[in-house]
Amino acid sequence: MSKLLEGKRGIITGALDQNSIAWKVAEKAHEHGATFVLTNAPIAMRMGEINALAEKTNSKIIPADATNVDDITKLFTESQEVLGGKIDFVLHSIGMSVNIRKNIPYTELNYDFYNKGIDVSAMSLHKMLAVAKQLDAINEWGSVVALTYAAAQRTYPFYTDMADIKALLESIARSFGYHYGVEKKVRVNTVSQSPTKTTAGSGIKGFGDFYDYADAIAPLGNASAEDCANYCISLFSDLTRMVTMQNLFHDGGYSTTGVSDDIMKKFGI
Ligand SMILES: NC(=O)c1ccc[n+]([C@@H]2O[C@H](COP(=O)([O-])OP(=O)(O)OC[C@H]3O[C@@H](n4cnc5c(N)ncnc54)[C@H](O)[C@@H]3O)[C@@H](O)[C@H]2O)c1
Repeated sequence: MSKLLEGKRGIITGALDQNSIAWKVAEKAHEHGATFVLTNAPIAMRMGEINALAEKTNSKIIPADATNVDDITKLFTESQEVLGGKIDFVLHSIGMSVNIRKNIPYTELNYDFYNKGIDVSAMSLHKMLAVAKQLDAINEWGSVVALTYAAAQRTYPFYTDMADIKALLESIARSFGYHYGVEKKVRVNTVSQSPTKTTAGSGIKGFGDFYDYADAIAPLGNASAEDCANYCISLFSDLTRMVTMQNLFHDGGYSTTGVSDDIMKKFGI
């Protein structure tokens, strides 16, 4: 296998446990020859198994709350010291909605929780990009990828405030991608991933049934976390150096399929 990330340095957020999409990205990035720092919220790391991943991938862990600019500054500064130079790729794999956790319907959202969700899951991307740009911490042609979901474009009632938050996340990728591209040739994209059985995914009400529904619609079936990791690696690599400011669907064709024969049969048509 050719190593697509040989010599590249990265920061990978969001690896909570073996099911996390970020976990698979870290494993693949390691296989492809990258060196990187793992990071997560300090509170998540006490519960998580991130130490095993760090050992397996020979990585250092630098805790950072993605809502805290001081933590992010420390993360980018120390990562460059640990890795021995500027960063080539960043994975933003961070999502959390208290409204979803508490099963609050969209029409009755708690606004403190809504603000928290926006800060953690979308504004954190802006904060990371702003800190990186200010510190000039990312190499030219570097690549930043954030994970998103199709509810940013079409309505999924159970996704409640995360739908709005993902729309903001995707907009930040475009807006910041413009400025970072013009000034430093840094690329910023979002990957819109299939439903995936992770802690964040499974926290959504009715997730299991919806997972099966999406699988029955998508001509290729749902894309796994491992497939998503492979796609992220390609976006971190030099093979995609002219791709920026895009929302890229990674969903087995789900988002452009109106209906499938499989679903029609379930209605006796
Ligand atoms: N699972 C799915 O169905 C699915 C589908 C499309 C997109 N996504 C997105 O993929 C990304 C990763 O989620 P996942 O499915 O791997 O679940 P996950 O629960 O494994 O990962 C979410 C991560 O966010 C981290 N996090 C939460 N608050 C944080 C904070 N304040 N600072 C730093 N990190 C914080 C958590 O600790 C966790 O590691 C999320 O953006 C999610 O919305 C998931």
